[in-house]
Amino acid sequence: MMEQSVAIDVCKVGKMYDGVAAIQDLSFQVRTGEVFALLGPNGAGKSTTLRILITLLRPTSGQATVLGYDVVRDADRVRRLIGYVPQERAIDRFLTGREHLLLLGDLYHLSKEESLRRIAELLKLVDLEGKADQPAKTYSGGMKRKLDIACGLLPNPKILFLDEPTLGLDVQSRLRIWDYVRQLRTKGITVVMTTNYLDEADQLCDRLAIIDEGHIKALGPPTELKTGLGGDIVSVTVGSAALARVEPLASALKGLPFIRAVSTKPTGLDIRVESPEKALPAILEAANRLSCPVEFIEYHRPRLDDVFVAHTGHAIREEFPAAEEEA
Ligand SMILES: Nc1ncnc2c1ncn2[C@@H]1O[C@H](COP(=O)(O)OP(=O)(O)OP(=O)(O)O)[C@@H](O)[C@H]1O
Ligand SMILES: [Mg+2]
Repeated sequence: MMEQSVAIDVCKVGKMYDGVAAIQDLSFQVRTGEVFALLGPNGAGKSTTLRILITLLRPTSGQATVLGYDVVRDADRVRRLIGYVPQERAIDRFLTGREHLLLLGDLYHLSKEESLRRIAELLKLVDLEGKADQPAKTYSGGMKRKLDIACGLLPNPKILFLDEPTLGLDVQSRLRIWDYVRQLRTKGITVVMTTNYLDEADQLCDRLAIIDEGHIKALGPPTELKTGLGGDIVSVTVGSAALARVEPLASALKGLPFIRAVSTKPTGLDIRVESPEKALPAILEAANRLSCPVEFIEYHRPRLDDVFVAHTGHAIREEFPAAEEEA
């Protein structure tokens, strides 16, 4: 198979805000035609990284190139090759969807003909044809996000940057947006996105980088990251009265030969094990011996949330808040 070419090359990039590092020593490459995700919690440095790549922010250290052009020295060239959908939308409530796109077409110096042709195409792609001539203030959160994406695609970019494309959207809208991203990939467009949704990174991207506190903690295709953990996960929930005895239980388990790693969580323990048939009885036995009654025990193959915990030492968020509908 031919080696895929490199679309983006990030080399030891750092960014300080007022003397505080938002990202440090970041290095990774994005391959042409892939969907690449930066996965991380709030404040991890995802938007900062994206803004450097789209030339909106200058890195404090390191270099990055987009399609061979340096993001600082050749910023103009970079801008002509990319599309960007920001995390915070910049939609004017009083303009219609079509007016937004027409205005942008002027900004990009598209000919009237080219502009109209592309706008018709894009409105179809994001199923906004029916709403195109109504003011954006009448759009739902999902529709606004679809318009954002159409705006990002208007310049016909080789690379599309999406900052949290489905943040706060309902399940239906999220699935539709995943669908568009997959369509873009089949058209050969490279997609770089950020997300703090594990399922989004897992299902959508070819490769992902886990970013936490400004550092990349792991990088690879989701399946490789999962199998790379080695071992399955036993998840133990203890009653609230026994929470104080979770630490001694963790220490006792760490000494057992078929146990690879033990991490505590608010409700109990996640235990990475080599052979579950040996581990399960031993875990229950230890819990009994240490008077730490188990309320619930579950066993599963590694998932992306386990990968995240293994590499960062914490969950991406404490619990999963229900998707909020945005105004
Ligand atoms: N303009 C700024 N001035 C000062 N600090 C900033 C600025 N922008 C971001 N930061 C800080 O840099 C860090 C990384 O922020 P960034 O927006 O890149 O994170 P993020 O991963 O995109 O988070 P989120 O998921 O909340 O969007 C945070 O600690 C943030 O407070
Ligand atoms: Mg962000």
